[in-house]
Amino acid sequence: NEIFLKDYQAPRYLIESTDMHFELHEQDTLVRTRMQVTANVDGGAGAAFELFGHEDVELCRIAINDQVLSEKDYQRQGEKLIVKSVPASFLCETLTRIQPQDNTALEGLYKSDGMFCTQCEAEGFRRITFYPDRPDVMSVFRTTVEADKALYPVLLSNGNPVEQGESDDGRHWITWEDPFPKPAYLFALVAGDLEYIEDSYPTMSDRDVKLLIYGEAKDLDKLEYAMASLKNAMRWDEEVYGREYDLDIYMIVAVDFFNMGAMENKGLNIFNTSCVLAHPKTTTDAGFQRVEGVVAHEYFHNWSGNRVTCRDWFQLSLKEGFTVFRDAEFSADMNSRTVKRVEDVALLRTAQFAEDAGPMAHPIRPASFIEISNFYTLTIYEKGAEVVRMIHTLLGEEQFRAGSDLYFERHDGQAVTTDDFVAAMEDASGRDLSQFRLWYSQAGTPELKFSDEYDPQAHRYVLHVQQSCPASPGQATKEPMHIPLAMGLLDQQGNDLTLVNGETTLVLDVTEAEQSFTFENIQSRPVPSLLRGFSAPVKSHYPYQRDELVFLMANDSDGFSRWDAAQKLAVDIMQSLIHDHQNGVALTLDPRLVDAFRAILEDSTLDKAMVAKVLTLPSEAYLSELATEIDVDAIHHVRNFVRKELAQGLESILLSVYEACELAGEYSPDAASIARRSLRNLCLSYLMATEEARYLALAEEQYVNADNMTDQSAALSMVAHSRFKQAAHKLLERFYKQWQDEALVVNQWFAIQATNPEPGTLADVEALMQHPAFDMKNPNKLRALLGGFCGQNAINFHMADGSGYRFLGDRILELNKQNPQVASRMLTPLTRWKKYGEARQQQMKAQLQRILDSDGLSKDVYEVVSKSLA
Ligand code: ARG
Ligand code: ZN
Repeated sequence: NEIFLKDYQAPRYLIESTDMHFELHEQDTLVRTRMQVTANVDGGAGAAFELFGHEDVELCRIAINDQVLSEKDYQRQGEKLIVKSVPASFLCETLTRIQPQDNTALEGLYKSDGMFCTQCEAEGFRRITFYPDRPDVMSVFRTTVEADKALYPVLLSNGNPVEQGESDDGRHWITWEDPFPKPAYLFALVAGDLEYIEDSYPTMSDRDVKLLIYGEAKDLDKLEYAMASLKNAMRWDEEVYGREYDLDIYMIVAVDFFNMGAMENKGLNIFNTSCVLAHPKTTTDAGFQRVEGVVAHEYFHNWSGNRVTCRDWFQLSLKEGFTVFRDAEFSADMNSRTVKRVEDVALLRTAQFAEDAGPMAHPIRPASFIEISNFYTLTIYEKGAEVVRMIHTLLGEEQFRAGSDLYFERHDGQAVTTDDFVAAMEDASGRDLSQFRLWYSQAGTPELKFSDEYDPQAHRYVLHVQQSCPASPGQATKEPMHIPLAMGLLDQQGNDLTLVNGETTLVLDVTEAEQSFTFENIQSRPVPSLLRGFSAPVKSHYPYQRDELVFLMANDSDGFSRWDAAQKLAVDIMQSLIHDHQNGVALTLDPRLVDAFRAILEDSTLDKAMVAKVLTLPSEAYLSELATEIDVDAIHHVRNFVRKELAQGLESILLSVYEACELAGEYSPDAASIARRSLRNLCLSYLMATEEARYLALAEEQYVNADNMTDQSAALSMVAHSRFKQAAHKLLERFYKQWQDEALVVNQWFAIQATNPEPGTLADVEALMQHPAFDMKNPNKLRALLGGFCGQNAINFHMADGSGYRFLGDRILELNKQNPQVASRMLTPLTRWKKYGEARQQQMKAQLQRILDSDGLSKDVYEVVSKSLA
C-alpha cells in the first residue's frame, strides 16, 4: 500500500474544464460532474483513463461522450476506477450520491454546525466525486450549488459568482466560475446561514478586490482582526515579493469543525474558527498572532501553492516550506523579528527535532508514504521553511528575490517539484546548490561539533567543525550537507571583532565532514558566537564554560544568540541537577543563573518580550528532546526546583517588574503591549512558584481585574495548576460560567485543566470527556483535552502505572473510524517509546500493539503504528 516518489508518472489525461452541480439535501446530496478530457501529450492516447473515488461515494452513473458505461467498461481497484478504453478527447459525466451529514472524517464535503463545507487537500475531493484527484491535473471549474434557501442562504464556491436563481419549492442556486486552472484539492464549497464583514483592497495595479469574511452571526464581532491582517498580508506580498492578487473577490469562511488550521482553496479559504476569530475579551495575544500568521499563510499560498502548485504530494514542502517561510517573515516584519525567530526555533528544536529522531522521521521531500495526511508534519512545514531560509541566507535578499521572481515567472500555471524551485534559485543567482539539495532527500537533524584553538604569538584563531547526521528509518548513512553557518567572534570586552570585508557576522559554508576555518589578526582569545539567528536547522555543540554563556547572554550582538546562550546555560545547569537528582544528591542551584537573570530583569533598556523569552526556562519537552533517556519525573522535579529557587532569589525584582509592566488603557495586540503582558505574566508565574498565599491573592486580583483574555487565562492557569486546590476549583467554575457560550474559550478551559501537572488530572480529564460542552467529533475540543493531556502533560501522561497510555489507546481505537486524521495525530506521544526507560517502553508498546492488532484500522493509524513498532 506504500506509494513511492520514484514511481511517479505523468497523467495520461488532462482535464480542460470541469462543470459541477451540487444538489444539497439533508440526507442524500447529489453531485453531477462533467469533465472535458484530452490525452496528455506526454502520456498519449490509447491509455486507460484513471479516476479516484472513495468507498463512501456511491457512483450512480458514469458516461463517456453520452454513452453510459456498464460495469464491464471499467475496473475498480481500491479507490481507483479505470476506464479501459477512451478516445483522445471526450466528455466524461458522473453522478454520485454522498451523505455529508454523516461524514465525521471532515474530509471531502461535510457538515460543521449545520453548514456544508469542504476540505479537499490532500485527497478529499475523491470523497465527493470520481475524478483524476492528483495535483498535476489542473482544470478550470464552473460550480453550481443548489440548496434550501431558508437553511442555506449563502452559497459559495471558488472564483466569481456568475448566475443565480430560485425555484418555487424554496430552493435557490448560484453558479461560480473560477478562471484559473487548479487541481481538485483547491476546490471548495460552502453553504450555510452565514453573516459577513466586507472590505476592499486596491491592488498595486489599482484593481479593487472585494474582501469578505464569513462566520456565524454570534462571531461577527470577532472578524475585524483577520480582515486587517489580510490587508497587511496583501500589501506585504506586493512589496516584498511583487505578487498581486488575481481574482476580484477573496473570501474566508470560519468553521468550527476542522482537522487542521486553515485551507487555501482558490478565492475561498476555509478556516478553523481558532485561526480566524479574534477579540480581546476571548482571544489571547498568542491567539491574535496565530490569526495574523495563518491568514497571511493562506493568502500567500495564492502564489506559492495555487498559481504554482505541487506536481505530486511528495513535493508538499514546495508550497508549505516556502509559504511558512513567507508567513514567518511577514510576522517578523509586523511584530518583533527576534521574538518571532525565538518562537519558531523553540518549536523546531523541541518538536521537529523529536520528529526527526522518531520512527516517522522523513526528509522534507519524503521518498514514500502510505497515507499523505500523515505527512502534514513539522518536518514538511517548519524544517521545510528552514531550508528555504537557508537558501535566502546563502543567496542574500536580492538574489533570493530574483530567484523567486524567476520561479513564479517560469512556472506560473504549472505543477512542479522542489527541484524546480531550487533550479530557479540557482539560475537566478549563479550559485551552485547541488550539495545543498541533500536537505530535500536526507532525513534527521545534522549535528555540528566545534572545537577551537588560539595561537597568541601568531594572533591566529582556528575554528574546527565536524558534521554528522544520525541514521533514520531507511537511511543508515548520510552524506555531508551544505550548512550555512552564521558566526561572529567577541573580544574580551564583549565587542564584535571585525572579520573579512568589515563584517562582524560571517556565513561560513560548512560542506565537509571535517573542516577548519582560520582567522588571522585576532589579538586575544575570542569567544565564538555560533549559528547566529539559527542559520541552519542543526544541533550545535561547542564546549562553552558557564561563564562564557553568561558573557554571551550579556554581550552577543545577535539577539537570537543572547537568548540561545541563556537557554544553553539553563540546560547545562538543569542537566547537572537531573544527574544529581538521579544520584540522590541534594540539589543546589548555580548562583550564576540567578545573577544572570537578575541582570536581565534590571536592564530596563531591553525589549520586554525578549526579557520574558530569556527568563523562560527551557521546557520539559525540550529537556526531553535533549535527553538520551527521558526521566520524566526528574525533569519535572528539577525544572520546578529551579523555578522556585529563581523565584525566591529574585522575588522583589520580579514583583517590581510585575508592577512596572501594568498597562493602562484599551487592549491592543501590538508588539509592545504584548511584550509587557508577556513579561508581567512571566513574573507572576515565578511569584506563584514560591507557593506563597500572597501571590495567589495577586493572581486572583489579576484575574478579576483583567479586561482581556491574555491576562485572565494566564492568571487562571497559574491558579488552576497550583497546590491551592480550592482556589483553583472556584476560579475554574467562575471562568466556565462566564464563558460557556464561547466555544473557543471553553476549549481553553479544557486545555488548562488537561495540562494540570498536579496528581489526579487523568480522572479530571475522563470526567471532562462527559461534560456537556465536550464533543468527541470536534477536533478543536479533542486537541484541547486529549491533546493537552497526552501531548503537554508529561508528568501525568507518563504515570508509572501506564494508565495514561491505556487511556490514549482507548481513545485512538474510538477515533480511528470516526476521524482517522485526528486519530493518527493524537498517537504521536506513544510513538516516542524508545526514549523512555524499560518499564514505560513496555507499556507504551503494548498499547501500540493493541491498536495494531485491532480490526478496521485506517491507513492513517496503520502507518503510524506499524512504523513505530518496526
Ligand atoms: N494546505 C493547508 C495549509 O497549510 C493545510 C491543509 C491540510 N489539510 C489536511 N487535511 N491534510 O494551509
Ligand atoms: Zn500551508
